[in-house]
Amino acid sequence: YVIGIDLGTSAVKSVLVDRTGNVVREESEQYPLYQPKPGYSEQEAEDWVEKTVLSLNKLLAASGVQPEEIEGISFSGQMHGLVLVGEDGRALRRAILWNDTRTTPQCRKIEQVLGDKLLKIARNRALEGFTLPKILWVQEHEPEILDQAALFLLPKDYVRLRLTGQAAMDYSDAAGTLLLDVGGKRWSEEIGAAFGLKPSLFPELVESFDDTGALLPEMQQRTGLTGATRVYAGGADNACGAIGAGILSEGQTMCSIGTSGVVLSYETRRDLDFEGKVHFFNHSEKDAFYIMGVTLAAGYSMQWFRETFGGGVSFEELLGGIGEVSPGANGLLFTPYIVGERTPHPDADIRGSFIGIDASHKLPHFARAVMEGITFSLRESIDILRAAGKTVDKVVSIGGGAKNKEWLQMQADVFGADVVKLESEQGPAMGAAMLAAFGSGWFETLQDCASEFIRESVTYKPDAERAQTYDRLFAVYQDVYGQTAELNR
Ligand code: XUL
Repeated sequence: YVIGIDLGTSAVKSVLVDRTGNVVREESEQYPLYQPKPGYSEQEAEDWVEKTVLSLNKLLAASGVQPEEIEGISFSGQMHGLVLVGEDGRALRRAILWNDTRTTPQCRKIEQVLGDKLLKIARNRALEGFTLPKILWVQEHEPEILDQAALFLLPKDYVRLRLTGQAAMDYSDAAGTLLLDVGGKRWSEEIGAAFGLKPSLFPELVESFDDTGALLPEMQQRTGLTGATRVYAGGADNACGAIGAGILSEGQTMCSIGTSGVVLSYETRRDLDFEGKVHFFNHSEKDAFYIMGVTLAAGYSMQWFRETFGGGVSFEELLGGIGEVSPGANGLLFTPYIVGERTPHPDADIRGSFIGIDASHKLPHFARAVMEGITFSLRESIDILRAAGKTVDKVVSIGGGAKNKEWLQMQADVFGADVVKLESEQGPAMGAAMLAAFGSGWFETLQDCASEFIRESVTYKPDAERAQTYDRLFAVYQDVYGQTAELNR
C-alpha cells in the first residue's frame, strides 16, 4: 500500500491506495484559516502537522491494514505559501498563504528590479500569491524574523520536515516561488542576490519522487506507521492533480473546475515563451513541465450566484434548470471576474458583468450564462495553448465541473475538443499516492502507474452546431474585458 496526503487550504486529506490504484480508505481533517486584515490569509504551520498526524492515525486505525505493509507516503501541497523556519526546525511565524494578496507593492518592486529577467529565469510574472513577494514583505515589515530564519519552506515541505527531520523542496513546488531557474532546475543566485537573500535560506532541491527518509520515532508512534515506510518528497497540488488525471505525456490537457478553474497542459519544451500570459512550472515528472491558465472565480462564480440570487435553491436544482435553456442563454452573457482575473488578464481590479439582459430572462438563463462565462474564460487559456502550437483535441475534466453532464457537454462544445470524465477521481491526493507508488519502485515510469491506476469513463464530443453558436458568443465575450476594464480603476 501507499498513502497520498493532500495538504489543502481548508483541510488535509489522506488516501490509502492499493497496488491496483483502488482507494481503500480516506480521511480528512480541517484546520482554521486566519484573515486578520483585508487581503491577509494565514495558517498555523503546526496545525498542518497536527492534523496530518491525526488523519494518518485515523486512516491506519480504520483501514485494518498492517502498518508494515505501507511502503511509502508522499504529498501534494497547496502552492506558494511561505513558511520561515528557525534554527530549531519550527515555524517562526504563521505561514502566509497563496491566496494572501497583501504583496502588491512587493510585486511591483520585483518587476522593477528584475525587468525581463524575471520571465527569462523564473518563467512567471510577479503575482501577489507567489512566494518571493511574501519573503520581501517579511523583509520589509518583520526584518527580525527574516534574520532569524534558517530557511524557507513551502507548506507540504514543512510537514515533511516535522515528520522526518529532513528539509527539502521539490522542483514542482519550488517553481511557484519565483526564485527557481525553472528551465535550469536550480535556485537562481541572481534573483536571490538581487533582493539580498542569504543563500542558506534556500532548501535542498529534490525530485517529487525522491526518497526523503523515514518517519522520526516520535512520529511513528503518533501516526501508527513504522520505520519501514519511506517518505517521498511530493509535489505542488496542480502537478499532483495533473498526475492524478494522467496528464503525463505531450498533448494531454486537463480542465479542473473547483473554486478556481485551471487549464493545464503537459510540456517538455523548456524554451517556450508565453510572455507570462500563462504559468510555466516544473512538473513532478522528471524534466517535464506544465503550462497552466487560471480562472480565479470558476466554481466560486456559481456559488456566488446561487447564494446571492438563488433564493435558497440547491446546487442540484440550479444546475438542473440549465438544460432547459438553449446554448447562449438567449443572448445573456456573463464574465466571471468577480474577484479579478489571472489568465489571460492578470488584473486584480477587473470585475464581472452580465450583458444582454432581456425582460424574459429567468433564473435558469442567468445560471446558464454564469456556467458559460466560466467556460469561456477557460477557453481563453486553451486558445493560448493552441496559439503556441499545441494540439488540444482532448481534455480530461476533473473537479466540480466534471460532476454535471450539462457542464461536461458545454466544455466539449466551448473548447471544441473531446472532454473525458474519469471513472473515479481523487484529485491531487491520488497524484501524491502515485508519486509514492513510483518512488517505491512499483512501476518503471509514472506513465505506467497512470495506466494501471487511472480509468477513463465517458467521453463528451463537441456538437458542430452548438460549437458554432459558442464561437460567435466567445468573440463577444473576449471584447468585454477591454470595454469594462476602466469601470473599477
Ligand atoms: C496555483 C495556486 C493555487 C494553489 C492552491 O498557482 O495559487 O492553485 O496551488 O493550493
